[in-house]
Amino acid sequence: MKIVRTREMEWQNGWDVISMMPDNYKENLGPAEKLEEAYSKYLQKNLSIDLESTFRGDLIDLQPGFADLTDAYHDSVEECFFIAGDCTLSGEQTFYGYHYFWRPPGFIHAATSVTGFKALLFLHGEDPSEGSGRASRVIRPTELAGTNALTADAAAALGPRGWVKIDTETLPWLSEEQFKGMYPELNAFGLNGIEIKILSINPETLAMSALIKIPENFQIQEDFWVRGFRAFVLEGSLKISEQDLDAESWFETSSGEEHQGLSSKTGSLIFAKISAKN
Ligand SMILES: [Fe+2]
Repeated sequence: MKIVRTREMEWQNGWDVISMMPDNYKENLGPAEKLEEAYSKYLQKNLSIDLESTFRGDLIDLQPGFADLTDAYHDSVEECFFIAGDCTLSGEQTFYGYHYFWRPPGFIHAATSVTGFKALLFLHGEDPSEGSGRASRVIRPTELAGTNALTADAAAALGPRGWVKIDTETLPWLSEEQFKGMYPELNAFGLNGIEIKILSINPETLAMSALIKIPENFQIQEDFWVRGFRAFVLEGSLKISEQDLDAESWFETSSGEEHQGLSSKTGSLIFAKISAKN
């Protein structure tokens, strides 16, 4: 199990990070002379990166007044869970804390924020099952915001999960029984009294992003992970295989990996990316 305890990490400044970005990304951020002003307002802690697929996940903290310099699209799916603050995407809407989007490739957008915002941000990277290409950033004119640069076929543009934009607080929790009934092979968590909100799901592979609410005094014995989990502890804390995971910790497990028990005294809320069925 990989663990990233973000509270023990320093924030990276976006201006420093630009030098590490793929060339096709950094050359497409906007006018070179304005990059420092804009991206010094972009703070991040990296959760996960896969150079092969170009998947990456970051905890980001954008400062008040942040604004992308240009509109752009990605060849990759982009996914975001907002923790707090405000973020307005051109051609879309304003997102606040506990809002979520899964955006298929090609849709043109730019982000601005008045008060700043904190979020989990993912570029999904190359994954044919999700219709997702490599991480990239391609500048397009602002007046095309909200349209798709890659296809004129509106249905095809949506990909398998659709373009999902939701206030997760307006979704009902699924009980353990409801969830087991719908996705019996996903009993990877012991599920003793947990509740779940499915934020986006691939109907072919059942890969999904979800909020999982773990009750107080939760405990399951040693077992193995039926599916891979990549997850962020939003609230409370939990213990997996004797490792304490406080709020703002990230962990990754793979399908078939064993664990030595999972427990939570306080209860916990986690954002989880659950892998496809094998
Ligand atoms: Fe984006």
